[in-house]
Amino acid sequence: MSTLWRNLPVNGVHEPNGTVQLNGANHTDGEKAEVLREMEATVGAEGGDPELFSARFGEFGGSYAPESLMRCLSELEAGFNKIRNDPEFWAEMRSYYNYIGRPGHLHLADRLTEHVGGANIWLKREDLTHPGSHKINSALGQILLARRLGKTEIIAQTGAGMHGVATATVCAKFNMKCTIFMGAEDVRRQALNMFRIKLLGAEVIPVEQGSRTLRDAVNETIGPHPFPTIVREFQTVLGEETKAQLLEQRGKLPDGVVACIGGGSNAIGMFYPFLNDPSVKLMGVEAGGDGLDMQKHAASLTGGSKGVLHGSRTYVLQDKHGQIQDTHSISAGLDYAGVGPELSSWKDSGRAKFIAVTDAQALLGFKMLSEMEGIIPALEPAHAIYGGVRMARNMKKGQDVVICVSGRGDKDIQSVADELPRLGPQIGWDLRF
Ligand SMILES: Cc1ncc(COP(=O)(O)O)c(C=O)c1O
Repeated sequence: MSTLWRNLPVNGVHEPNGTVQLNGANHTDGEKAEVLREMEATVGAEGGDPELFSARFGEFGGSYAPESLMRCLSELEAGFNKIRNDPEFWAEMRSYYNYIGRPGHLHLADRLTEHVGGANIWLKREDLTHPGSHKINSALGQILLARRLGKTEIIAQTGAGMHGVATATVCAKFNMKCTIFMGAEDVRRQALNMFRIKLLGAEVIPVEQGSRTLRDAVNETIGPHPFPTIVREFQTVLGEETKAQLLEQRGKLPDGVVACIGGGSNAIGMFYPFLNDPSVKLMGVEAGGDGLDMQKHAASLTGGSKGVLHGSRTYVLQDKHGQIQDTHSISAGLDYAGVGPELSSWKDSGRAKFIAVTDAQALLGFKMLSEMEGIIPALEPAHAIYGGVRMARNMKKGQDVVICVSGRGDKDIQSVADELPRLGPQIGWDLRF
């Protein structure tokens, strides 16, 4: 679930213990299917015009939310339908691109390309946008939408803190009250971003329940319909720019596009404009943590199964009883047990491929980009760097792979310093001083 307005509760329908909440009542696993059918019936009755955009991506997506949320979700859907094809809205959105640093940069990573010895590696530099990640695209769009709907107060959730920082940034700019929910563990490991949010005038509320990470604060890209579609529409600027910029610089489409996956917003934004270009390989990189066989990871697409989490049917990490599993990743923004439903549909259709990269491999991606390109990435895109290097190595010279550097690394410097004694020896990196 993404940005919400004040009158909505933040919890999705799935409680951490796997029961389902409907109208305040807990339902056990056995009752789940019936409860979910009831909820779907409600969506069908109250949802927007199905001609405009679908609530589902094949069998994925939908809106498994309590009835008390349905009125707000319908209002949001209707509002989004209105602005979706409204040139004035998009002109207003673009009028702030100068403020957020768009168009973003796309350039060749020449030293990395030479080191790898395969395809050209290009970097889409979302780390250079204000205030440091792709999250600003959806935060800006959603705040403009909320303003159109007459809302004056914003609540949002965040994992690595970048969505929180982006939301607090636009709230400061538009003079809106802002409250950010953040897992207590993420407050600890992303202390810099937590303080940035406060400096921007927003309130941070640590979520103490459950694993105290993103799972309990809910990821941005997932959530009931229409959130996944809204986030996609605001993030496709990534792929659209990439397509135009590579055409300009190389006169062709890329052969591969690579992005990391937490909830999936930068991946969906990068991939969507290439959906009907079958020559372009799309690869999403998930957090493999300690390795898929170790059970300590956050790879919902590569290591999960179909289920319902935070209002959406998608691939999730769950046990055989449907209880959501604890996740682990070196990177707070990827540390999540679910994924946006549209990516789940592309996994099943085969349009996109997904791999899992371990903490140690991500650290190697982080090291390579820092030392060879002078760019310290966030730990989330460090996963994509590792995966993109692997893809480029298996391609021919003259082919082109674009990797999305979804955010900058300042927030992760302390985490890297803390993890180096454990992971450094695995990749031959020793920075003791
Ligand atoms: C820099 C950065 N990249 C990627 C992500 C993962 O999110 P998503 O998969 O929605 O792009 C996050 C999440 O916090 C992030 O901060």
